[in-house]
Amino acid sequence: MSKVGGLFAVALLLAACVTETAPTWRSGDAVVGHQVARDNCASCHAVERTGDSPKLGALPFRNILAGYRPDWLADDLHTSQAIAPGRMPVFHFGEGHEYDILAWMISIQDAPIHEPGE
Ligand code: HEC
Repeated sequence: MSKVGGLFAVALLLAACVTETAPTWRSGDAVVGHQVARDNCASCHAVERTGDSPKLGALPFRNILAGYRPDWLADDLHTSQAIAPGRMPVFHFGEGHEYDILAWMISIQDAPIHEPGE
């Protein structure tokens, strides 16, 4: 690669870093989220890449984002909205675990997720 080409590549890389500050709903850690989902959600939802939900009517996590915008779900979990009143407990995640769960969910979706704005 020529020297100019190399510099150009570095500039592009820097530009990518600057513009790619991940939105908050994208800030989670999927490995942590997997554990949090196992601990808090797996009694009703299938939280793995395969398998049925233990509770009838509770969607497997790998299908949830087909019908729920990821940024909205992150928001609803963050603000402790009642997602399914009467059928699902309300969770209070104070340490960003809502975003961790999202990261895990995103990583296992059967269908590509709809990015906000698309
Ligand atoms: C006690 C059982 C139970 C637990 C525990 C539970 N859920 Fe649910 N959840 C349900 C049921 C049942 C529904 C479906 C409600 C309906 O459609 O009326 C649901 C629905 C949802 C939905 C909505 C799906 C949609 O598209 O409408 C999301 C998102 C969700 N749950 C996330 C979670 C997360 C994240 C956790 C863990 C932090 C969790 N749930 C724990 C029972 C549970």
